[in-house]
Amino acid sequence: MKIDLILGLQWGDEGKGKIVDFLTNNYNIIARFQGGPNAGHTLEFDGIKHVLHTIPSGIFHENKINVIGNGVVIDPVIFKEEIEKLKELNVDLSNKLLISRKAHLILPTHRLIDKASELSKGKKKIGSTLKGIGPTYMDKTGRNGLRIGDLELDGWEDKFNTLTNKHLNLINNFNVDIDFDINKLIEEFTNSINFIKSLRFIDSEHYLNESLNNGKKILGEGAQGSLLDIDFGTYPYVTSSNTTAAGACTGLGIAPNKINNVFGIFKAYTTRVGSGPFPTELKDEIGERMAKIGNEFGATTGRPRRCGWLDLVILKHSITVNGVTELIMMKGDVLSGIDRIKVCTKYKYRGETIDYLPYSIEDGNIEPIYEEISGWEEDITKIKSFTDLPKNFKNYINFLEESLNVKIKIVSVGPDRTQTIFV
Ligand code: IMP
Repeated sequence: MKIDLILGLQWGDEGKGKIVDFLTNNYNIIARFQGGPNAGHTLEFDGIKHVLHTIPSGIFHENKINVIGNGVVIDPVIFKEEIEKLKELNVDLSNKLLISRKAHLILPTHRLIDKASELSKGKKKIGSTLKGIGPTYMDKTGRNGLRIGDLELDGWEDKFNTLTNKHLNLINNFNVDIDFDINKLIEEFTNSINFIKSLRFIDSEHYLNESLNNGKKILGEGAQGSLLDIDFGTYPYVTSSNTTAAGACTGLGIAPNKINNVFGIFKAYTTRVGSGPFPTELKDEIGERMAKIGNEFGATTGRPRRCGWLDLVILKHSITVNGVTELIMMKGDVLSGIDRIKVCTKYKYRGETIDYLPYSIEDGNIEPIYEEISGWEEDITKIKSFTDLPKNFKNYINFLEESLNVKIKIVSVGPDRTQTIFV
């Protein structure tokens, strides 16, 4: 048996949560492979909206196992809150949430370093979610991190105190003004740690590979998007993990030759939250309209998302580095009522026309080259089958498939589970 992956092809917020939830019936195990509570995966069904940060998006289904892989970073405080919210909804987690012993822990001081680092950067800040993601991955690669498995070993307190003190010195060196009460933060953290000790910790790479050998079907769930990948994104305005398919191998311990389908998910337009270049950004009434109709506010931070036309240069880059086999297009309904839809197919860069993502795309040095397509007037949010969609919507899909050379298998026309159409 092989594993399928689902990952975002833009700057995150493509709607992975909804699609993982939708596809979960086809799998036995959903496994998150990177990122942490910087993610906000939104799922909507039975009139209720749920936002998950650390827990895989298959958690609302009966008899499905949800694994938090070694590539994920966990903030015990946020994780505890997330679990308590699910318990209020009577979601039984005891046998279906498994956590890798190798997943790293976000300490309260990681969050503080994130904040101090952003403040010290001034206008050049990354626009981080301030959840401590970067500093935690820095400690991981710097070989100083604390992991879930350490909670089962002797000496936890010493390790925690040593790292916390090191961080406090570091925060001092930033020379910025941030307010915090370290004792209160440690108390809250310790309470949460005691709570999560009651959950099931596993050697996840062993568990997942055994499950594949035993014929179980696994879906690997990514977070953020390919353009936020630490290597292939718009560095330095990226997150600190590999959000691309390779991140699923290192974040779950699954070999590359065990990957089968790679579902690439994108919005019918583009959004970005936080700082960094965005060639097709619209600062006009069409951008505002996309933000309003698409409800483009961050699920984790509530920040408004920047909006713009679909960028095929970026999509091609993401399709290539991920080996995408099938595409899923979200939020097609948000474009309803726009007379002429623009799609960026190439860039003008240093006097040349190019169709790939160059090393540096700082604001202003790239000019998008657009093709225009006729839009559709109809409200498509209640349509249930592909044949009933407006002709121009289908033309849009055909145009994208021909340009990208990959089939679009699913289109989403609204936030609810039921507003999902197979092409
Ligand atoms: P960090 O991951 O919190 O360090 O943030 C780094 C960059 O990634 C910032 O621009 C964030 O806005 C962006 N980012 C992180 N997580 C997400 C996400 O789940 N969706 C969209 N953008 C994200």
